[in-house]
Amino acid sequence: MMPWFFVYVADMQPGSPRSFRFNPAWAENWATARRQIRDLGPEFILIGGDVTRDGSIHDFELEAMKADFDGMGLPYHVIPGNMDTGNKHTRIQGARDNRDDVGLNISSEHIRRFEAVFGPTKWSFVHENVRVSGFCDMLLGSGLPEEDELLDWFEERKAAVRCEHHLWLMHYPLFIDRLDEPPFDIADPAHYLDWYFCVDQGSRKRLMDLFHATGATRVITGHVHCRKDHAAEGICFDLAPATCSGQWADRWPDGDPALGFFRYDVDDAGLRKTFIPLARVSTRDDAYGPGGHPKPEARDYSLAWEK
Ligand SMILES: [Fe+2]
Repeated sequence: MMPWFFVYVADMQPGSPRSFRFNPAWAENWATARRQIRDLGPEFILIGGDVTRDGSIHDFELEAMKADFDGMGLPYHVIPGNMDTGNKHTRIQGARDNRDDVGLNISSEHIRRFEAVFGPTKWSFVHENVRVSGFCDMLLGSGLPEEDELLDWFEERKAAVRCEHHLWLMHYPLFIDRLDEPPFDIADPAHYLDWYFCVDQGSRKRLMDLFHATGATRVITGHVHCRKDHAAEGICFDLAPATCSGQWADRWPDGDPALGFFRYDVDDAGLRKTFIPLARVSTRDDAYGPGGHPKPEARDYSLAWEK
């Protein structure tokens, strides 16, 4: 087999100067990553969600990123992140007063708006000896009709043709430290971020059953903005870097919040991951607006540079 490679990038969140908040450094970082990826010329690009900062509210951010991806002239496959749609579901308010956790839950309307721009949020394809499958993990535990459709699709995947490598894409990591860790309590201030940064809603076993039944070899996730390698039950779990900004630098001794993306090389010897750092990290410091998940009353559109 001729060696070939693909790229995985996630958590670009360039935002928009039409928004109530904007960080030009994050937009510059995405432009840098985009140039680097285009120059590398991979067979395809996997995009792991949070392509927008506030796509959950603004169609124009989704549409701008679609134009960016289309303009790269390379095949790409994208799953949504919580900033593009909504967060994984909770039925109760969490430990942080400055966000409305229940109000941030993903909705059917979010899925409809994302798919109107990017197409289906669950997909699977084969290239050479690699299968890649992606889906919107925020739906798990939501009770939305789209969750039922996703679970039906999981069953269908089990009959798909096996490949030497099967990579699964989801936005939230499956776990934080260990596969057998108990679910975290959103109302516990000491574990709010643990809750926020992993997918588990009692759905971890269902996903592991899916991964094993489909011959999964690797699961690639974004969301945390901190690079970290896990392995469990014969599957690699790659926690990917962001291009916008690093987070959670002190969560794991071997976590690395450096900005960049992954390159995966495939040849007869196997599949090899390489971290590609951003060629240049923007030093602009003229951001405006609040961070995190501001409540509607904290969104001041009079700050926008472009009306
Ligand atoms: Fe995210």
